[in-house]
Amino acid sequence: MFTRKLSLKENETIQKIIDFVRNKHQTEEGHDYSHVLEVCRLAIEIGSRIEEPVDPFIILGGALLHDIGRVGAPDGRFHGIDGASRAEEFLESMSVDAYAVKRITGIIVRHTPTSMLPPEKVEEKVIYDADTIERLGLMGMVRGIMGKKGSMESIITDRVMKRLKDFDTLFFDVSRELAKPHYDTTREIGGILQNALKNRLGEIEEIESYRMLREV
Ligand SMILES: [Fe+2]
Ligand SMILES: [Fe+2]
Repeated sequence: MFTRKLSLKENETIQKIIDFVRNKHQTEEGHDYSHVLEVCRLAIEIGSRIEEPVDPFIILGGALLHDIGRVGAPDGRFHGIDGASRAEEFLESMSVDAYAVKRITGIIVRHTPTSMLPPEKVEEKVIYDADTIERLGLMGMVRGIMGKKGSMESIITDRVMKRLKDFDTLFFDVSRELAKPHYDTTREIGGILQNALKNRLGEIEEIESYRMLREV
């Protein structure tokens, strides 16, 4: 549950963060501004429904800035750490207090397994869950496919079907409840794609055996 409402000054700061994030993410292909907005929406819903107390400024700041490290960086392997550095500079420039900066940057570092530091604080878990739910959804599935290299089989298996395991890493019951319809849709569509691929491979084998007959 949210422990309080935003102060006027915090509200102004959040507006500045929104302008900044919209401007930076609008040209991103996969992790675009709509991804950030959806993570925000889910984080607010999870934050308001869990029993643990959460701070609204930390949740909003963390959700808005969580993928800022991806902007202009096609290789996302350091986007948690890089994003935290970018956010730290930006927040400090707006005179956000050091404690809030520390908590928001903690969210950014720990929202992604690439940082190899799992979420610990409740706000970190909320953003992790919100980001994971968005990834499980249809748009997340499309994003998992966009611009990826490799065979269709490896993309469908590795990028779509393996992602379903993320469902088991969610921290809160409410997150599992919100994720379930997305999980089911992705599993169903992933299964259809896998079957279509299997059928196509069967067709290729049939064509090849037909050629052999003709050559004889
Ligand atoms: Fe991320
Ligand atoms: Fe994200």
